[in-house]
Amino acid sequence: MRFVTGALEEVAALAPGPYDYIDCCGVLHHLASPEAGLRALASQLARTGGLGLMLYGTYGRSGVYPVQEALAQLVDDLPDADRLAAAHRLIAGLPDTHLLKRNPLVHDHRKGKDAHLYDLLLHRRDRSYRVPELAALLSTAGLAPLAWLEPARYAPETYLADPALRRRAATLPDLERAALAERLSTTMGKHVLYAGFADRPAVATPDPGADGSVLVLRGLDPATVAKGLKPGGMLKAEIDGAAYRAPLPALTTAIVARIDGRRTVAEIRAAIAAAGIDAPDADGFARQVRTLFAAFAGINRIMVRHAG
Ligand SMILES: C[S@@+](CC[C@H](N)C(=O)[O-])C[C@H]1O[C@@H](n2cnc3c(N)ncnc32)[C@H](O)[C@@H]1O
Repeated sequence: MRFVTGALEEVAALAPGPYDYIDCCGVLHHLASPEAGLRALASQLARTGGLGLMLYGTYGRSGVYPVQEALAQLVDDLPDADRLAAAHRLIAGLPDTHLLKRNPLVHDHRKGKDAHLYDLLLHRRDRSYRVPELAALLSTAGLAPLAWLEPARYAPETYLADPALRRRAATLPDLERAALAERLSTTMGKHVLYAGFADRPAVATPDPGADGSVLVLRGLDPATVAKGLKPGGMLKAEIDGAAYRAPLPALTTAIVARIDGRRTVAEIRAAIAAAGIDAPDADGFARQVRTLFAAFAGINRIMVRHAG
């Protein structure tokens, strides 16, 4: 690995690609031209490559921009130390009804660190995006969203209880579904997504239930998870106040306990049979693995890699 420091607009000269993967976390929304920055990155991305992005989200940052703008009106001409002191005084005196005070998702100004407060309220170049605006930004570089994280966060069903509305939401194109989810949650203060060229050749998605697939749990200890799950029940999680519920297969406990990031699905099935646990045939087992995978993938807690 070679470390190069510089402006990302200069990447073509500093560290030319093409790259299979480029990660750009929390930078584009601070550039004078996010479009130019994105184009510079896209110019070094392989045709089938992926771009991981984090950009601020508008609704989840409600209250932030009015305070940024108020501070700019009042103390923009003062030295940084005075701007900081003014920011402390201003937020201390805000009415309880102010959007910033009513936004439980923004904490940076309450962490007690001036760097956090400065970054949140005194940054002079900071913009945010709603899903359609983000897609429009991507399209200026020929890119389109491939996946949003966590997927369930961008699924309208997470926020819709009514069956008739859920059926309608299911018929919308992917991008409109993500935009709808954002409108129904209003909690997204950061968008995390993978993007790729809109016209890239189709890439086959690995089948998590295939014999050769290797499952990897992310940030979870298999033994602890297996203990906490009821086979045939629901996986339950909370996404910024919204309840995530996903069905789990009968063999959940047995499968999860054996996921170690090395064993293939076929090896897990063999290990379960060897333990004397009643397991279905290969097809039935693959279906159970797919259901289990879908449940954990919704909250970005599982990945699949093909052993081959
Ligand atoms: C909010 S921080 C994110 C840092 C890091 N990527 C992370 O996720 O923790 C924004 C970073 O963007 C960098 N930055 C701003 N303009 C840049 C540019 N034109 N080229 C490269 N980096 C830039 C800043 O120096 C700062 O470190």
